[in-house]
Formats: sequence, structure tokens, C-alpha cells
Amino acid sequence: MPHRPYVIDPMISAKTIAARIEDLAREIQVEYADCEKLVVVGLLRGSFVFIADLVRELDMNVEVDFLEASSYGDSTQSSREVRILKDLRGEISGRNVLVVEDIVDTGHTLKHVVALLKTRGPKKLETIALLDKPSRREVDIKATWTGFEIPDEFVVGYGIDFAQRNRNLPYIGKVRFTGE
Ligand code: IMP
Ligand code: MG
Repeated sequence: MPHRPYVIDPMISAKTIAARIEDLAREIQVEYADCEKLVVVGLLRGSFVFIADLVRELDMNVEVDFLEASSYGDSTQSSREVRILKDLRGEISGRNVLVVEDIVDTGHTLKHVVALLKTRGPKKLETIALLDKPSRREVDIKATWTGFEIPDEFVVGYGIDFAQRNRNLPYIGKVRFTGE
């Protein structure tokens, strides 16, 4: 697919993200204070940087697992169909689970994943999203914890891509298309 030229305007700095993750980790530790171990489930691929930073701020027993759900393909358009491309390796029945998502946009992905994982009988299941675009929501879902609420902009960086590009940017930026 040929790309229209674009630039990335910085939106949330690496320092601001790091400070927010420290606060979120403290809140998560309080919420799961009594639990012996937490299973942290990252939704691939966009959450891989966030989950790496988040678990290193958690002073508790943590197991890490991944699940890949796809609803986007290589475009900025959301489709409503959510497919599970890669399932968890481990069991979550009777366990304390935290699902980690990069962005909640229309909400279809997180809603579908939470419904699926709840059928497996976790003891407790909460969710965290680094970013939330509430103005785009199509289904009723909100992550237990949100890093930052953002306007309806297409963003990249800190694990998040545009057609598989820009995941390696250390900050969050918005995509701005420039003239041809
Ligand atoms: P939802 O199902 O519409 O909530 O979509 C969630 C998924 O869409 C996220 O996990 C992202 O992978 C992707 N997504 C949503 N907004 C953006 C964006 O601004 N940039 C890149 N990916 C996005
Ligand atoms: Mg995603």
C-alpha cells in the first residue's frame, strides 16, 4: 500500500508517560494487594512497550502472557469484527488477571477480549489502557485504569503503529498528513 506522506507531531512525552505509569502501578498494587500473583495479559502488538514499562513498576509477583486480537489491518479505519489471532499460553481460571491495552478506540476489541476471558472464570479481571479516545466509542466499555484521554487523532509511537511503522518512537505523537 503506498503511503501518503505524513509527519508526526509530538503529543505525550516519554517523561510524562513514565510518570503516569508510576502512578498507575501504585494504584494497581493497592487494588491487587491481597493477591499472591498477578497474570498480566498484554494485547499484541500495540501494548508491548507499555506492558514492559508497567510490569517493571509493579513490586509484586507477576506472570506475563500475551493475546493477539485483530480488528484493524493496515489502515486507520476500524472494523467491527474482532478475531483472536493468538491465544494465551496459560490458564486464567481462578486467577487474578490484568488486561493491558494500548488504546481503547471504538471499544470493540477490549469488550470482546474481556467477554472471552471472563468465560474462563478468572477470580478477578481488570483492564488498563494507556490511551482512551472516548469520543470514538461505539460500545459501552471503559478500562479500569486509563493513562491518558486523548481527542480523536490517529496516534503512533510507544508501541503503537501506523501500518506497522513508528512503534519504536519513545513518545506518543499524532499523525498529520502533508501535501502530496
Ligand atoms: P477498538 O476496537 O476500536 O477500540 O480498537 C482498538 C485498537 O485499534 C487498538 O488496540 C489499536 O491497536 C488500534 N487503534 C485505535 N486507535 C489507534 C490509533 O490512533 N493509532 C494506532 N492504532 C489505533
Ligand atoms: Mg491493539
